[in-house]
Amino acid sequence: MEISIRRITSDDQDEWFKMRKGIWPDAPDEYLGFDMDDILASDEDAVFFAMMDGRPVGMVEARIREYGEGCETSPVGYIEGWFVYPELRGKGVAGVLTQAAEDWARGKGCTEMASDTWLDNAASIRAHVKLGYFEAERLVHFVKQL
Ligand SMILES: CC(C)(COP(=O)(O)OP(=O)(O)OC[C@H]1O[C@@H](n2cnc3c(N)ncnc32)[C@H](O)[C@@H]1OP(=O)(O)O)[C@@H](O)C(=O)NCCC(=O)NCCS
Repeated sequence: MEISIRRITSDDQDEWFKMRKGIWPDAPDEYLGFDMDDILASDEDAVFFAMMDGRPVGMVEARIREYGEGCETSPVGYIEGWFVYPELRGKGVAGVLTQAAEDWARGKGCTEMASDTWLDNAASIRAHVKLGYFEAERLVHFVKQL
């Protein structure tokens, strides 16, 4: 089945929110929604949907960041979020989405693209490597109550 890509608009907020929830199911709705308007209005962000049979089946959120771990240039393109509905995984949808995000970042003058995922997200790690990304660093996040 053919996959096409389109940039999202403010009309797509409900679907986009659902896909965000798919990536971060435990995040509170306020947290998942608080930056959506800013992202839609920003030149340094782009969100793309992958479409199959006229319906959105996945998305990538890309951003221009000043710094990307492991990168040698600045600014760089960054994959902030990546999601494909479970029943359509393994068909190349994420690959097509990534290509769109990379083309967009290239158009913004970037020569490197960076991304991250959780250590236990084997599918995402495999997909990154298959799509030409190499592991640059491992980070540990800490919190202290104040
Ligand atoms: C990660 C994710 C976006 C990949 O989407 P996808 O559409 O299934 O990926 P693709 O079909 O485009 O696969 C891209 C490559 O990765 C490989 N790959 C994808 N999933 C894989 C898996 N579970 N195991 C092994 N390889 C995998 C594919 O074989 C393909 O390589 P190829 O081109 O050589 O065949 C999808 O699994 C997902 O939405 N996961 C939940 C959300 C998430 O974890 N997002 C990432 C963190 S932000």
